[in-house]
Amino acid sequence: MKILRVDEILWNKIDENHRKVFVRVDFNVPIEDGKVMDDYRIRQAVPTIKYLLENKCLIILATHFGRPKPNDEKSREAYTVLPIAEKLAEILDHEVLFAEEIYGDAVRKLILDGRPGKTIIMVENLRFDPREEANDSDFAQKIYGKCDLYVNDAFGASHRAHASIEAITHFAKIKAAGFLLSKEWEVLNQVLHSPIQPQMAVLGGSKISDKIQVIKNLMTRSKDLFIGGRMAQTFLAAQGVQLGKSSIEEESLPLARRIMAEAKQLGVNMHFPTDGMAAEKIDATSAKVIQVSKDSPVPASLSLFDIGPETLKAWTHQLSKAKSVIWNGPMGVFENPTFAHGTLGLVDFLVIEKDKIRATVGGGETVAAVGQRGALESLYHVSTGGGAMLEFLEGKALPGFEALKLRDRELEALGAV
Ligand code: 3PG
Repeated sequence: MKILRVDEILWNKIDENHRKVFVRVDFNVPIEDGKVMDDYRIRQAVPTIKYLLENKCLIILATHFGRPKPNDEKSREAYTVLPIAEKLAEILDHEVLFAEEIYGDAVRKLILDGRPGKTIIMVENLRFDPREEANDSDFAQKIYGKCDLYVNDAFGASHRAHASIEAITHFAKIKAAGFLLSKEWEVLNQVLHSPIQPQMAVLGGSKISDKIQVIKNLMTRSKDLFIGGRMAQTFLAAQGVQLGKSSIEEESLPLARRIMAEAKQLGVNMHFPTDGMAAEKIDATSAKVIQVSKDSPVPASLSLFDIGPETLKAWTHQLSKAKSVIWNGPMGVFENPTFAHGTLGLVDFLVIEKDKIRATVGGGETVAAVGQRGALESLYHVSTGGGAMLEFLEGKALPGFEALKLRDRELEALGAV
């Protein structure tokens, strides 16, 4: 089984009048007051869009945005993708026609009036219709309409078996992955199946229970596992460290002990913070550096909100021996500058080491931290997927990839073998 990449399509066999391509993108980006606040996901889809234009395609772009209530007028206003279409036009410096519907007469007219190699049409938020999330075949057929090709470049949504990701592929004679989807596939497959050793893993965020399968998978592929964020506190508490008021996941204490025992058996070094930034409140403007060990309990009035400087120094020292690093989840509450040192310090380290270490970073908050440092293009790979990346690392088959896989006979029929 193989997934075709857009540049493997045999364009010379496709008449220029039959290059209407439906492109599923994930432009689910933060918007405030009608303005796109972070355009990373949009920019990452640009190479595919440009490539398709160069190959004389007429492009129909579709994305979901947020989680609107289907068929709800207020939701329509709040979740229109018009600001996203405008942002894309600005980034491309190219007109993007906006259709106020997902399919229907207005979209058909724009397509009829469109010009191959020039026209980009962006249809309205796919989730305005409940049939998108229901993976409804009839809806998929309607949105695909009279298109000639289907391209998926929506890695961030590839863990969703939705109509524009899955059902639609049953109507497309030619289906392929965009450059972004292909790169995510390649890089994440490498992390799981052929890691460049030594590979080390850094995991943060709040819940062990959410990442249990990822931790287990990475344990068999990385000899060093660094645990930060609130998750680390649960591991520390499971070792009997007194953590003051720090928030821990009580119900996951036995799980934490089991993971540590498993790591020991596998010979994996699990690294936990040896110091932390402590304060009374999460919105504190100053914090105390305190030691974190069985012998030095965190004072009862304080909580830990970040890893400390000693931890960062020791971890980066060890990480500098890695050839590849996979990182998901912040080290602390980095939205508050008082507790940003650990997370941003790690970003800075990976940027400095970028020629030596292949760093693959993912997860909404972690990517936001990389963005804060202006380092999105500096690291080896900053994933556009949050949930999608975690599910991939859990070893799950993602509908977005599965639906694009072609059997040998399908490839032969396309003349692509
Ligand atoms: C994301 O932002 O993770 C993707 O766009 C998927 O969004 P969803 O979780 O609402 O399906």
